[in-house]
Amino acid sequence: MGTKERNEEMHRIAVIAGDGTGPEVIKEGLKVLSAISKKAGFKYETVDYDLGGARYLKTKELVPESVLKELAKVDAIYLGAIGHPDVKPGILEQGILLKLRFALDQYINLRPVKLYNANFCPLKDKKESDIDFVVVRENSEGLYKGLGEFQNKDTKDEVAIQISHNTRKGVERCIRYAFEYTKKRNRNKKLTLCGKTNVLTFAWDLWQRTFNDVAKEYKDITTDYAHVDATTMWFVKNPEWFDVIVTDNMFGDIITDLGAMIQGGMGIAAGGNINPEGVSMFEPIGGSAPKYTGKNVINPLAAICAMGMMLENLGEEKAAKSVEDAVIKVVKTKLKSLAAGKMGYSTTEVGDLVIKNL
Ligand code: IPM
Ligand code: MN
Repeated sequence: MGTKERNEEMHRIAVIAGDGTGPEVIKEGLKVLSAISKKAGFKYETVDYDLGGARYLKTKELVPESVLKELAKVDAIYLGAIGHPDVKPGILEQGILLKLRFALDQYINLRPVKLYNANFCPLKDKKESDIDFVVVRENSEGLYKGLGEFQNKDTKDEVAIQISHNTRKGVERCIRYAFEYTKKRNRNKKLTLCGKTNVLTFAWDLWQRTFNDVAKEYKDITTDYAHVDATTMWFVKNPEWFDVIVTDNMFGDIITDLGAMIQGGMGIAAGGNINPEGVSMFEPIGGSAPKYTGKNVINPLAAICAMGMMLENLGEEKAAKSVEDAVIKVVKTKLKSLAAGKMGYSTTEVGDLVIKNL
């Protein structure tokens, strides 16, 4: 999907290992990338970028303009984690992660929710085939736009206003992507709009109208609607009902943490910040996990899965499939748990196991 011209000769990948356990899991992802590139016969080069809390504390820099210019020219970005216990919440998230998503117009956040081993599912009586859906999260607008204001700040009459900003263009490009994705995925050919039409009557009226309009062009796709609160209920009760879900930035953020839990936890959950016409960025969706940093206990599979998604985006579909298949084998036959420190193997050993199973 996408119209960006691919560099067939050499994939140029920017690596932002970032904070906390980011570097440890990225190292495993790169180890697997190196192994699969030899097997599949493609070439790539990586360029490291030192962005994150440590750099910020030293230099007060977040993403320098020169770095942004370079990142706009690579074929893909591979990101570990951003977040540092000594930096006030919000600064790194907004200044680095959201900055990159917005500046590179990565307007889709693609988050597959797939259960690889039913033993690791916290839900009772769910088979692997019951949990296999994808959330298409709008990634450039909504509440994340940061619009709003304080009125009468620090008085007893203070008001804080936080605006959800939804444009027809922004909503439509996301919904179109979701329909195309549902068609290409070709599983149940069902797309569910997850919203809140019963209360948020401006934003979700626009979403619903746009969804209905675009749906007319996709007669073979079954459409459905679920309120966001009900969606969280169905994730627990009947996750097998979902194939592809499209939703806004905030709801997508919330429901994909729940999605990660039902697929086995943050240790396995990966996502892609996609600009179908530009540069996309792939990341494990769990954070920097400071308490596990440097202990060789964090699960690298989410980062390895994110690398697999990156390969697919780079046009290396077969290699991406082998990475996923190897991860499935390791999850099904080796690991005791997907949680940090409980896998029965260290971070580096899990990376080695994936390579052995390629
Ligand atoms: C995520 C994260 C980010 C988000 C934070 C760190 C800004 O929770 O990628 O889901 O809210 O999008
Ligand atoms: Mn989140």
